[in-house]
Amino acid sequence: MIPEKLLVKLARRHANKSMRELRTTSGLIDFSSNDYLGFSNKLKPASSNKHGATGSRLLTGQTEICQQLEQKIAAFHKTESALIFNSGYDANLGLISSVAQRGDLILYDEYVHASIRDAMKLSDAKSLKFRHNDLGHLSILLDKFSKEENQEVYIITESVFSMDGDMPNLVELVNLAKNKDNVHIILDEAHALGTVGNNGEGLAQSQNLQDDIFARIVTYGKSMGCHGAAVLGGFDLNQFLVNFARSFVYTTALPQHSLNCISNAYDLLAQDSKEVENLQLLVIKFNRLVVQSGLRLRFRESVTPIQTCIIPDNDVVKKAALQLQEKGYDIRPILSPTVPAGEERLRICLHSFNTIEQCEKMLHTLAAILKKR
Ligand SMILES: Cc1ncc(COP(=O)(O)O)c(C=O)c1O
Repeated sequence: MIPEKLLVKLARRHANKSMRELRTTSGLIDFSSNDYLGFSNKLKPASSNKHGATGSRLLTGQTEICQQLEQKIAAFHKTESALIFNSGYDANLGLISSVAQRGDLILYDEYVHASIRDAMKLSDAKSLKFRHNDLGHLSILLDKFSKEENQEVYIITESVFSMDGDMPNLVELVNLAKNKDNVHIILDEAHALGTVGNNGEGLAQSQNLQDDIFARIVTYGKSMGCHGAAVLGGFDLNQFLVNFARSFVYTTALPQHSLNCISNAYDLLAQDSKEVENLQLLVIKFNRLVVQSGLRLRFRESVTPIQTCIIPDNDVVKKAALQLQEKGYDIRPILSPTVPAGEERLRICLHSFNTIEQCEKMLHTLAAILKKR
C-alpha cells in the first residue's frame, strides 16, 4: 500500500476526471503520434556489433561513431557543435539547469514544455514567464528586470508549441535580444525538426537565424522516428555542457543502435525532402477542410502538423476522442491540468502518410460528433 497522502492525490485525479492511464491502440489511423514523417517505420540503421554503450560519455561511452555523428549533426544544422543527450527531456534539463546560474534571469513563454519547467526548478536562476508568444510582454519584462550587474538573461521558447502547434515570431524575438550582450535565446526545436523548412531543418535555420540563437534543442523521438536529442551551439557551450550538464555526465550514453538510427534519419532528411513537402502540403489542405467542415472556430490557428480542436471539459473531450477511436481514428484527448482548464482539446497530428481522404472523413465524423452534443 502506498502512503495515504499519495492515495488522496490519486483520488483527486479520479474526481476531476484527469486520471492518466497507459493504453495501447492498434489498427487505427494515426492522427496522434509525433512520427510526422513516418520515419519510425523507415529507418534502416547500420547494424552494430556492440549493444550497450557501457558507460557515460566521459568514460567508456564515448565512441568514434558518436563523434562522427555529432559532426554530421552540426554540419546539417549549420552550427559549430552538437552534443547528443539521451532524450529531449535530458537535454533541456542538463542545458538550462547548468547554464542559468544564481543571479541570472530566465524569461520563458508560459506554454513551454514540462522538461523546461523542471530544468528551471533545478537551476539557481530566477525565472519569470511571459504571456504566450507575446513579445510585447517579453520586452516589458526585459526592460524591467534585466538591469542587474553581472546578470545573464536567457529567453526560452519553442519553435512549434507541442500542445498548440503555433510558432513564435523568431525574427522579432532575435531583434529584441540583438545588441544586448547578456541576453541569450534558447530555442526548443523538438516539433520543428522534420516539419519546418524545406529540408525539415527547423525554424531558426529556415529563417537563417541560427547564428543569433545561443542554443537550439533538436529531439529525435518525433519526426526522426527514433530517440535521443542534441544541443546545438558554439564550441564553448559544448565544452561547458560536457563539464557541467548533470544529465549528460551522470548517465549511460545512448547505445550504438540509437546512434545509427539518428544518423540514418539525418540521411533520409538530407537526401529527400519529399516527405517534408508532402506533410507541409497536407497541412495547407487540412486547414481548408477545417473551414469546409464548419469547424474553424473550434480549431486553433496552426500552420504546422499539430492541430488542436478545443472541446472544454475533461469528460466531454474524452468522450469525443473515444467516439473518434471507435470510428477508426487514433486521436487522443489532452486534459487539464496538462492544458489550462476550459481549454481541453483533441490534439490532431498530421503525418506525411495521412491521405486527404482520411482527413476529410475524420473531420466529417468529428463535426457530426460535436453537432450531436
Ligand atoms: C517541446 C518539447 N521539448 C522536449 C520534449 C522532450 O523530448 P523527449 O521526448 O525526447 O524527451 C518534448 C516531448 O514531448 C517536447 O514536446
